Amino acid sequence: MTLQFSLASAAPETAETPCVVVGVYENGLLTSAAARVDSAAGGAIKRQVESGDISGKAGSTTVLFAPEGMHAKRVLVVGLGSQKSFDAARFQKVCMEATRALTRLPIDSAVSFLADVEVPGRDSAWRLRTAALAADHAAYRYTATFKPREKSSQPELTSITFASDEQARTGLDQAIAIAEGVRFARELANLPPNICNPAYIADQAVQFAESNEKVSCTVLDHEEMDQLGFGSLLAVGRGSANHPKLIALEYIGGASDEKPYALVGKGITFDTGGISLKPGPGMEEMKFDMGGAAGVLGAFIAAVKMGLKINLVCVVPAVENMPDGNSYRPSDVLTSLSGITIEVLNTDAEGRLILCDALTYTAQTFQPKAMIDAATLTGACVIALGKHASGLMSKHDDLAAELLSAGETTLDRAWRLPLWDDYQTQLDSGFADIANIGGKNAGAITAGCFLSRFTEGQRWAHLDIAGTAWDEGRKGLATGRPVPLLAQWLIDRAG
Ligand code: BES
Ligand code: MN
Ligand code: ZN
Repeated sequence: MTLQFSLASAAPETAETPCVVVGVYENGLLTSAAARVDSAAGGAIKRQVESGDISGKAGSTTVLFAPEGMHAKRVLVVGLGSQKSFDAARFQKVCMEATRALTRLPIDSAVSFLADVEVPGRDSAWRLRTAALAADHAAYRYTATFKPREKSSQPELTSITFASDEQARTGLDQAIAIAEGVRFARELANLPPNICNPAYIADQAVQFAESNEKVSCTVLDHEEMDQLGFGSLLAVGRGSANHPKLIALEYIGGASDEKPYALVGKGITFDTGGISLKPGPGMEEMKFDMGGAAGVLGAFIAAVKMGLKINLVCVVPAVENMPDGNSYRPSDVLTSLSGITIEVLNTDAEGRLILCDALTYTAQTFQPKAMIDAATLTGACVIALGKHASGLMSKHDDLAAELLSAGETTLDRAWRLPLWDDYQTQLDSGFADIANIGGKNAGAITAGCFLSRFTEGQRWAHLDIAGTAWDEGRKGLATGRPVPLLAQWLIDRAG
């Protein structure tokens, strides 16, 4: 069940709903909505603040049941922390915690006043969009591969109405489209690799194109790619019974003769490392190695759903990296689609090998205005930036600035790493034009440098999302990043 969102002008004390959501700061400071509830309900909130039952601690939640003087059956009081330090990130966190609390109650809908809370430097459209996206994120459940549970008789949360001004409506419209893209990306990435293989991703793309008039999809199979000379991409897939696919989605939202923007995503549906086999522990996480593909597909869906007046292409090389008698090996020399030859020194550095051909194909086929790739490319990027920022690499300062700013706006942040020529020599090879690994130093950057060799003359940027695409641990789920960042970048381009 996906959450429905709506916008209404409502008063907290008269809203007819199973639950009203309001915020209180630390030190007993009430938001205006909370103050209205408090006075309608005869001081019900202040009493609990005084008793210490409501602390106002950021993300804490308290439910008041059947408060007198209120039309709503419940009030969910959410802690906002101290007002002095209240900021965009806190706002997002608080909206998520509120939704988590709502999903635990036996209710199907709620009216939230959180989008009304002032956030320094952000307008009401931003607040509404962020609140809705945070709610959708918190309400997401992965259920695809569990035994179907018996339907409980308890109601489930299906809709949230936000009280906000009408000017904020664009924020809600954007949130609904972006949430669909994020959900798509999370679901695809969470699926196990025995279901989500290259053919499955291609099917998903074809299905999306069939349901949208302005979208078309082409899928190249391994034989067609062989004819065209995708020597690098096909080498990576040679060890797998699941043949590679190259997926290209096209959306015409602008003038038909306008050049498109291009998104390219790494779609390794499982990365064993190949002959340079990865260690066993943690290998299951490599089902998320198609997180870049999921992310660019999600952003593409969001752009189409928003009806952005731009042209956009989304190219996904979908490949499985397996060890086998037919696998490519360390010391193989590959001829890429661009003609550049590559010495394979490690079959686990496979992402760049499928991306280089996909980037060449995208540049040649579409001559894009700008080309962004997203990839779970290197463990080194996780070491450098942890799980909070995606690594951004580009030789184009203006393009980098656009992407950093889209990341700040959406709190889906990236941090730039240099692509100076100084690093390029680490990729020197004695047997081919370039080696596929650059040694132990600056692994995220040398991976970016590798891709830069295949994007000369293009306005291109690379996002290494190895740390940000999924949450750590046994129950770690795909995050849907960088869908918000990319969707915002496209919104900004559409002007
Ligand atoms: N998919 C991995 C990168 C990765 C590792 C993402 C851990 C998230 C968590 C990629 O294909 C890979 O194996 N990269 C190697 C490159 C090395 C062989 C130069 C890595 O990072 O170890
Ligand atoms: Mn690998
Ligand atoms: Zn990989």
